[in-house]
Amino acid sequence: MKKVSVGLIIAMEEEFRALDGMISKRKEVFLNGIRFILGKINNVKIAIALSGIGKVNAARTTTTLSHAFSPECIISTGVAGGLGKLSKLSVVIADGLVQHDIDLTSFGRQKGALPGMESPVILATREIRDRLKKVAVSANIGIIATGDQFIASESKALKIANEFQAIACDMESAAVAQVAKLEGVPFGVIRVISDDAGKDADEDFSAFLEKAASLNGQIVADFLALYSK
Ligand code: ADE
Repeated sequence: MKKVSVGLIIAMEEEFRALDGMISKRKEVFLNGIRFILGKINNVKIAIALSGIGKVNAARTTTTLSHAFSPECIISTGVAGGLGKLSKLSVVIADGLVQHDIDLTSFGRQKGALPGMESPVILATREIRDRLKKVAVSANIGIIATGDQFIASESKALKIANEFQAIACDMESAAVAQVAKLEGVPFGVIRVISDDAGKDADEDFSAFLEKAASLNGQIVADFLALYSK
């Protein structure tokens, strides 16, 4: 397979749609059963992988993407739940990622940390994070917490926020981060808030998905425009 500049990992078709119309020289391939859309956005060679939801899908997709297309960097992107006071449609950029559902505390480890990890936090690549900041200057920067759960409870949201000082939650980014780090590929995460992870999160998610995804797509396109310079 041909090398690309930027690999984008997106969980859902709805989150991908905003970018679809921007792709030139568009081609689709399936690898390991994963759908990849190849082409150029703003003159940057991209491979967009539709991972499906959750950590296992995200991890498998990141491995496949990095082996098949040797991207210079990988971006996990889409929508996220806001923890705390982030309003819907605000933008978040990760400076670190945690897996809130890892729990080896029975063995004296910190919540979120696996053996071999000094800290539960996987730091995003600084250069990528800074490039993302340039195109989303008012974005909130902080920790994004990932787990195989759609968070729709104020108490759960508060617990995750307090345990990890996290500002947002999703179901893929920390898995992408863990694999990207293992593969030695620089990575970043940018997402737009679709809901507040509280009791109406499911309804808000459905109501805001399209708008949040559309804004997200625009920011990713701006990132790519800057990337080519
Ligand atoms: N992605 C968007 N909203 C989310 C939520 N509330 N929990 C987990 N992932 C999400």
